[in-house]
Amino acid sequence: MMTRIDEAAAYLKNIFQDRQPVAGIVLGSGLGSLADKIEDRVVVPYKDIPGFPVSTAIGHKGNLILGELGGKTVLAMQGRFHYYEGYDMQTVTIGIRTMSKLGIENLFVSNAAGGCNPDFKVGDLMIIKDHISFFPNPLIGPNMEEFGPRFPDMTAAYDLEFIALAEQIALQEEIALRKGVYLGSTGPTYETPAEVRFYRTIGADALGMSTIPEVIVARHCGMRVFGMSVITNISNFDNCSGELNDGDDVIKQADIAAGKMCLLFSRMIASL
Ligand code: HPA
Repeated sequence: MMTRIDEAAAYLKNIFQDRQPVAGIVLGSGLGSLADKIEDRVVVPYKDIPGFPVSTAIGHKGNLILGELGGKTVLAMQGRFHYYEGYDMQTVTIGIRTMSKLGIENLFVSNAAGGCNPDFKVGDLMIIKDHISFFPNPLIGPNMEEFGPRFPDMTAAYDLEFIALAEQIALQEEIALRKGVYLGSTGPTYETPAEVRFYRTIGADALGMSTIPEVIVARHCGMRVFGMSVITNISNFDNCSGELNDGDDVIKQADIAAGKMCLLFSRMIASL
């Protein structure tokens, strides 16, 4: 794995030359349009990067994009790798370790998620303040000492200063924000109503199938992390037949909310 990361980073360094990204961005399902706002861009398809897999999930393109956002150089993953696609956890998180290797110290992650907090509505943006993981931990195995310690702390996995900054910008820009706990499980099935009730009971506000492995690896690397969920559907608490979850709906709703999230991310990155 170390060789794959080194090769990917060396390949990218050669393309980027002396442009040093200050932030990494992971664009979730349907949120890839934020990448269109990145200026002076260099687009590198995953399939060209040694060691990188090709992303197969719907609503996910497979590109790394280097460019300017909020007046700062950023590196965005347009499309991520999910555990449910069959990749191992090392591969799911390869983009994050590659970013760290490239000297990136700030990570902005986004995802589409189902709202299980009854106050939430479709289209809401939620600051991720904490998470609950139902994934295998991506750090299982020999510790990669080069990146970080064996037992990383997760008390403030989501950077408190970033959260305060997001809230301040949202006030100025009149963007309504929620704040809550993201619970991630492997998918690819959506949750059963019994699971939704269980997850709500243990403290979840939003449910998804991604992000947590990347955040754990980023924290292991010592990156500061900001996470945002777009509520693309409301989780079903009862076995009703009329309101089924649907991947295409998720993409459509994410696309509508992408503009607000883009504004927030770019203003936050501008202040780095
Ligand atoms: N559950 C899990 N993942 C999701 C959902 C959901 O309801 N919506 C978007 N991603």
